Amino acid sequence: MSLLRLNNITASYGPSQALFGVDLTLKQGEVCALMGRNGMGKTTTIKVISRLVKHTGGTLEFGGQDIGGLPPHKAARAGLGLVPEGRRCFGPLTVHENLHAAARPGEWDYARVCAFFPRLGERRDQVASSLSGGEQQMLAIARALMTNPILLLLDEATEGLAPVVRQEIWAAVARLKGESGLALLVVDKSLAELQRIADHAVILERGRSVWAGAMDELSRDVADKYLGV
Ligand SMILES: Nc1ncnc2c1ncn2[C@@H]1O[C@H](COP(=O)(O)OP(=O)(O)O)[C@@H](O)[C@H]1O
Ligand SMILES: [Mg+2]
Repeated sequence: MSLLRLNNITASYGPSQALFGVDLTLKQGEVCALMGRNGMGKTTTIKVISRLVKHTGGTLEFGGQDIGGLPPHKAARAGLGLVPEGRRCFGPLTVHENLHAAARPGEWDYARVCAFFPRLGERRDQVASSLSGGEQQMLAIARALMTNPILLLLDEATEGLAPVVRQEIWAAVARLKGESGLALLVVDKSLAELQRIADHAVILERGRSVWAGAMDELSRDVADKYLGV
């Protein structure tokens, strides 16, 4: 059974339509790459799934339930963990406060996320705004893990980070795939890294899913056509 299923999703920002028909399915424990050039609708799709943007058509199911009517906090409670584009940690709060505010019962608690990202434990009482970009990204991921999600949505988690820090984030994402049986939906610009980690992929072009398949079936031609510059 699929964990997440989007069927012909459409969405708009006021009068301007951003999604014109997005289909996507994801099973428990799988990693799906959501790809496409800038402005093609990746973030909007992530926001529809996490209920920050209301879709105008199509259906959205998670764990066999129609979640199309849920507000964001109920989607989070249902097991959707969002690591938003731009990280969005609470700057004036400390690392511990950021994490504590997100906590929900389950395997992922403060001790476990600090074991997963030791740097966060070392920075426990530092305010989030004083952390480096990489540390803020770790905090954003850890905060989502504290909600004990079934599906983690990662929107451009390596954006704006130095190469060595990117590698740390990718290594963390790979450990998440290996360790916890979480499903992951990953948006990122690095095709090479996505090919290493994802089981399958969906490509968006102008708000439509135009290609879906196993990651190892993504040909050079398709990548050039939809992802090339
Ligand atoms: N808050 C917004 N208000 C109006 N239009 C938006 C907003 N956010 C995104 N869009 C538009 O929706 C389309 C899809 O954007 P987005 O989902 O952010 O793309 P991506 O994440 O693939 O770069 C783009 O045309 C973008 O300009
Ligand atoms: Mg985006």
